[in-house]
Amino acid sequence: MSSMKAIAITTPGGPEVLEPVDLVVPVASRGQILVKVFAAGVNRPDVLQRLGGYPPPPGAPATPGLEIAGEVAALGEGAKRHRIGDRICALVPGGGYAEYCVVAQDNALPVPAGLSMIEAAAIPETHFTVWTNVFDRGRLAAGETILIHGGSSGIGTTAIQLARAFGARVVVTAGSDAKCAECRRLGAELAINYRSQDFVEELNTANIAPDVILDMVGGDYVARNLKCVALNGRIVNIAFQKGAKVEIDLLPLMLKRLTLTGSTLRPRSVEEKAEIARSLEAKVWPLLEAGECKPVIYKTFPLAEAWNAHRLMESSQHVGKIVLTT
Ligand SMILES: NC(=O)c1ccc[n+]([C@@H]2O[C@H](COP(=O)([O-])OP(=O)(O)OC[C@H]3O[C@@H](n4cnc5c(N)ncnc54)[C@H](OP(=O)(O)O)[C@@H]3O)[C@@H](O)[C@H]2O)c1
Repeated sequence: MSSMKAIAITTPGGPEVLEPVDLVVPVASRGQILVKVFAAGVNRPDVLQRLGGYPPPPGAPATPGLEIAGEVAALGEGAKRHRIGDRICALVPGGGYAEYCVVAQDNALPVPAGLSMIEAAAIPETHFTVWTNVFDRGRLAAGETILIHGGSSGIGTTAIQLARAFGARVVVTAGSDAKCAECRRLGAELAINYRSQDFVEELNTANIAPDVILDMVGGDYVARNLKCVALNGRIVNIAFQKGAKVEIDLLPLMLKRLTLTGSTLRPRSVEEKAEIARSLEAKVWPLLEAGECKPVIYKTFPLAEAWNAHRLMESSQHVGKIVLTT
């Protein structure tokens, strides 16, 4: 095999700019493995990349796709962690929308026992992101309460389940009553429809002050988060869908002794991602294998229909993850 099907962003634009192309199969360098991809997760950052607003970090392939599941097809020099034929899922800085993908061996983990390749492909991006933001930066502890904005998203459905599994109380915002019901089914005790309700008022009425807020919205949510968060609270921004430039009163930061933080996963080093991978394997893989947490798969599309998968994601009808299959 020297050539493979992959999806190219032919020019920045709408879903139709995603086109199948033939590419040379990449070669695994030192410490890397080549994976025959069975499934690749679709994430909102892929949409931003397609639109031209989220270029791949230096050294990453131009092909979109941040997570895959498949079988190890070849080992690069010094790559001893996995064997040819192993079923793995991996976080990649790009290149996932393809039949073959090169992966840093330390950013790949075994497919959790009992999970399909499709489910496994839906794990890395959200689990790495939620672990490092909710548990590392946000320091969410058992008995505390977390507010998750966008509870029905790929990130949100993962965050609800992990927070519950580690003994936290969960409240969410979501964009419809049906999505709120799905978030409650996953473990949220209160789900607020942000289109018809004000989350600050609803939390106030329910007498809930979240210790941690996971925010992917920004804009006017920044000030509203500061209003409802608890004393010593931690607010973690992972996106600013309503804008990153805001004018806010920062006095609550002092008065409530708050931490306002955030991070992006993709540009972090292989070593930093490997550290997150080790935590996930030790603490989250047993939950996935016991069925206590499960990726929520909304719909799959064949690789060639990546454009259709993006169209669905932008319609925001989905709950959980959209996955491509090769
Ligand atoms: N920093 C990082 O490392 C990192 C990594 C991965 C993803 N992200 C970000 O995390 C977000 C989720 O990613 P994803 O792949 O899971 O995408 P996704 O499934 O498309 O989710 C986007 C979510 O944003 C919600 N949303 C939009 N406006 C909202 C508002 N005003 N209030 C509450 N929720 C609102 C949507 O809810 P409705 O559909 O109900 O409107 C939807 O659930 C994206 O913004 C992505 O860029 C960041």
